[in-house]
Amino acid sequence: MTKITSLRGLLIDELMDLYGAETQLTRALPKMAAAATDEALKQSFSWHLYETEGHVERLERAFSILEEPAKTKTCKAMEGLIAEGKEAVNEKGPGAVRDANLIGAAQRVEHYEIAAYGTARAFAELLGEMEVVALLTETLHEEAATDEKLTGLSKSVNENALHSFTV
Ligand SMILES: [Fe+2]
Repeated sequence: MTKITSLRGLLIDELMDLYGAETQLTRALPKMAAAATDEALKQSFSWHLYETEGHVERLERAFSILEEPAKTKTCKAMEGLIAEGKEAVNEKGPGAVRDANLIGAAQRVEHYEIAAYGTARAFAELLGEMEVVALLTETLHEEAATDEKLTGLSKSVNENALHSFTV
């Protein structure tokens, strides 16, 4: 375990955690897209995979601005969230019910990321690292937009799930 002795050290640690989380997510999103039956939801997962690859790149740029090596740290929270996503992926019930489950799992991921990026951005702001703040803000906006999009999609998906049943 490393000893964190400063706010800068804490920012680097947050970025390493996010770098791990985003990398883990790039491996999970294709499976979520494949498991979704609703076409708009499938597309939204595929689009967010594309965005997530951009989030990884932004984090690499942030490390480079801070003159720190881009290292990942296994994000235990994301590991758990992805494990729950996997449960939704493997759910064998009606497609609409699985879709509703996938949206729930994906929104948990987004909320975690929004919290983590918000924390990292606040640290970067205090440290006067404004280029890093700008990068984190861009990603934060995309995570929030994804969350809103998922809420929008959940309206019809949940309605379909309500009327789905297996005999
Ligand atoms: Fe992200």
